[in-house]
Amino acid sequence: MRRAVILAHNYQLGEVQDVADFTGDSLELSRQAAQTDAEVIVFCGVRFMAETAKVLSPHKTVLHPEPRAGCPLADMITAEELLAFKAAHGGAPVVCYVNTSAEVKAESDYCCTSSNAARVVERVDAPEVIFVPDHNLGLWVQRHTSKRLLLWQGSCPTHDRITAESIQEALRAYPDAEVIAHPECRPEVLDLAHQVLSTSGMIRRARETPACTIIVATELGIIHRLQQEAPDKRFVPVSRLAICPNMKRITLEKVLWSLEDMSGQVTIPEDIAGRARRALDRMLEVA
Ligand code: 13P
Repeated sequence: MRRAVILAHNYQLGEVQDVADFTGDSLELSRQAAQTDAEVIVFCGVRFMAETAKVLSPHKTVLHPEPRAGCPLADMITAEELLAFKAAHGGAPVVCYVNTSAEVKAESDYCCTSSNAARVVERVDAPEVIFVPDHNLGLWVQRHTSKRLLLWQGSCPTHDRITAESIQEALRAYPDAEVIAHPECRPEVLDLAHQVLSTSGMIRRARETPACTIIVATELGIIHRLQQEAPDKRFVPVSRLAICPNMKRITLEKVLWSLEDMSGQVTIPEDIAGRARRALDRMLEVA
């Protein structure tokens, strides 16, 4: 008896989502990790997500079935780079996107996810805020706050591959469709979206919208869940190239093996975890 809970991100392979106890976006999964009374958390997602679970539940065993599944966006800023950027900008407070290492979170004042970024930035008691590492999300948040954001130049390669032309093409084929997009997409893509939402925000919207056809601008793994949750709707992915290879590295076999062997255990030095937890706790309070 492992007394384990399996958490899976909405971009995971369908077969992995189907065995999970809970599937969600980064915020929902963080909440689940913080609240679960299971002894073991098997985290099916990329490394920063498993690290976040360990930071929030330090006394639980967190297993990441494929430790090589990283996030290129999270790798675009190191703690040293963040400290230098902060020094160059007069020590302004830092909001980091959850897609960052535990070390970067440890140097940040607040953490945020795609579903609460604007609300978290508004909460910071300063007129200028450093926002790292996603430039596209930062530009999106900038449209919704009067604060001046100092942005890092990171981006998600999977979302960056989605173009405005591909949305226009999908709209020519389905003129009555609703376009939903993730805020990691480029600004010109977001300009064409009817709704800009986190992955779970997209799932809620798919259930509620009166539109019968929905054009989806994010990673393709979400289509599995969208079809399950709103089987009467048609989902049109804007790009067949929008696949995150790291998310797909977690397979059903690897989930089983990690549970059998208790392999892929996530460890984070307590001094880093403690400071990263502060930024995450502040985010959970805002949300
Ligand atoms: P969500 O929090 O919207 O699920 O986004 C997670 C993510 O990493 C997107 O690339």
